[in-house]
Amino acid sequence: MSDFDSKDFFTDPSFIPDPHPFFDHHRSQCPVKRLEASQNVIAVTGFDECLEVLRNTAAFSNIVAPIGPFPGLPFEPQGTDISAQIDEHREQFPMFEHLVTMDPPRHSRHRRLLSGLFTPRRLEENEQFMWELADRQIDEFHSSGAVEMLNGYAQPFALLTVADLLGVPKEDHDEFRVYLNAQKVGAMEEGDRLTRNPLEFLDEKFTSYLEDRRSSPRGDSLTQLANAKFPDGSTPEIVELVRLATFLFAAGQDTTARLMTSAFRQIAEFPDLQKQLREDRTLIPQFVEEILRMEGPVKSDFRLARTATSLGDVEIPAGSVVMVSLPAANRDPRRFEDPHEFRMDRANSKEHVAFGRGVHSCPGAPLSRVEARVTIERMLDRMDDIAISETAHGPADDRRYTYEPTYILRGLIELHLEFNPVP
Ligand code: HEM
Repeated sequence: MSDFDSKDFFTDPSFIPDPHPFFDHHRSQCPVKRLEASQNVIAVTGFDECLEVLRNTAAFSNIVAPIGPFPGLPFEPQGTDISAQIDEHREQFPMFEHLVTMDPPRHSRHRRLLSGLFTPRRLEENEQFMWELADRQIDEFHSSGAVEMLNGYAQPFALLTVADLLGVPKEDHDEFRVYLNAQKVGAMEEGDRLTRNPLEFLDEKFTSYLEDRRSSPRGDSLTQLANAKFPDGSTPEIVELVRLATFLFAAGQDTTARLMTSAFRQIAEFPDLQKQLREDRTLIPQFVEEILRMEGPVKSDFRLARTATSLGDVEIPAGSVVMVSLPAANRDPRRFEDPHEFRMDRANSKEHVAFGRGVHSCPGAPLSRVEARVTIERMLDRMDDIAISETAHGPADDRRYTYEPTYILRGLIELHLEFNPVP
């Protein structure tokens, strides 16, 4: 028995630096496979099979989407259709109140509330904000010629971009940064002294913004959110809108920050690639897609089989937790030639499933693509010879990188860069 069959993917630290040998091993045996040593989940590691699961909301529920097999089902599955059991126990699942765990038709009603936020006009205004924000944040470390990319730039950038999208007034941005622990030069000390739960902070803030906008509308984005309606014309409770807003921070910050960090690791490791991007900025979107394919920040997405079903030749009993492995799908050799190779000229990079597919596919995808593009453009403009810090990560032939120790997210916990400031 190999380590891949005997070790638990969810708890064994040896899979953290590179989970792909594990995925490749199981995919080569069967792209849909029960993993007895890994909490008995059914791992889906093939591209087509992942799409099949993501698109089939009749057979698969999202109730376990963000964390999968933990803490276990709050009931003993009975029979070949557990839909009624899921509904009865819904509120005992972690994060049950958030969009990502909802199933249709409730999911469709709530997802519609987001549509006012992601209009072309709103995204355009948000992009304008990003260009200014990128410069302000680069100013914070520019003269030093060094930055720790994740906390020194990417986390606060992704946080404030979501804040702007939701219409949080600019004068409150610093407070968001401090409370949500996205570091800022000078604000760090204050942040350390604050012990309030960040979710509590967001709840209070958005409740007060939305109550205020309902009683005195102002024509801003928060007013638009406060007045969003369900498709049948009914008005959501404030608390339902607050949950939506707080979830956008949870879903949009760590993920996009990891995307930007992975992109800069590649740019700093490969000077020829850096040169190519500097000389032809139109290549940046394709570069970002290939990074999403190779290093998508969401490592696992989960479903709960609500009915007994089959996938390929594999029988899936109702009540099984299915791990839809997005990174494995993105490196399925049946879909992507030489899948472990980073290729700027790959014709089908954009087919990746880093943002999921189907009714739950990521509504923030356009936003994070723009965040990455704006950041790369401005950093290339203002920072020459971007390189990996050897002091922090070791010499080129012996790098040390530490990844987030979780099965949920894929990304570095820090990335130290050095550069020559462009005056
Ligand atoms: C690189 C960055 C990002 C990645 C890789 C990513 C990935 C994903 C994935 C894979 C899903 C689907 C989950 C499922 O099928 O169960 C998802 C859903 C979601 N994402 Fe993102 N995301 C990113 C950025 C963002 C941003 C910037 C926002 C918002 C500002 C956002 C908001 C959401 C929301 C609200 C959902 C739930 C949608 C639903 O259940 O209908 N994401 N994301």
